[in-house]
Amino acid sequence: MKMIVAYIRHEAFEPIRQELLEAGFPSLTIMEVKGSGRQKGMTEHYRGATIPINLRPKLRLECVVESSDAAQVSDAILRHSRTGAVGDGKIFVMPVEEAIRIRTGESGEKVLQAHEASDHVSA
Ligand SMILES: Nc1ncnc2c1ncn2[C@@H]1O[C@H](COP(=O)(O)OP(=O)(O)OP(=O)(O)O)[C@@H](O)[C@H]1O
Ligand SMILES: [Mg+2]
Repeated sequence: MKMIVAYIRHEAFEPIRQELLEAGFPSLTIMEVKGSGRQKGMTEHYRGATIPINLRPKLRLECVVESSDAAQVSDAILRHSRTGAVGDGKIFVMPVEEAIRIRTGESGEKVLQAHEASDHVSA
């Protein structure tokens, strides 16, 4: 299993979400974050403290998938996130040891599979 963590622009999320849903990857988490890349966040010195003044708002997208699906998911993120301008973001892929569905206690790759289209279950 792999966890894909992507730092992306807010406007990239909806097209990514749509494509991942259609491709059978409905399960993900997003967080509003602030960060800086290699252009660095600028800082200001005030009374001995270093204060970040332009950490840029980004979305952090997390998605754990079967290893064989990682390339498909990161490719979808890449295609919808790239504008060609600095600050388009980054994608990190990392190994995941275990996944456990809390409701049932089942574990392993099978907990990552989406419901069949015939199922209508929220959350
Ligand atoms: N090495 C990193 N570790 C953690 N977060 C990072 C890292 N690099 C980038 N980020 C996150 O991604 C956001 C966007 O990064 P950004 O696209 O500016 O990267 P970059 O390396 O500066 O590339 P570019 O030159 O295209 O801007 C940052 O604001 C930060 O939140
Ligand atoms: Mg940058």
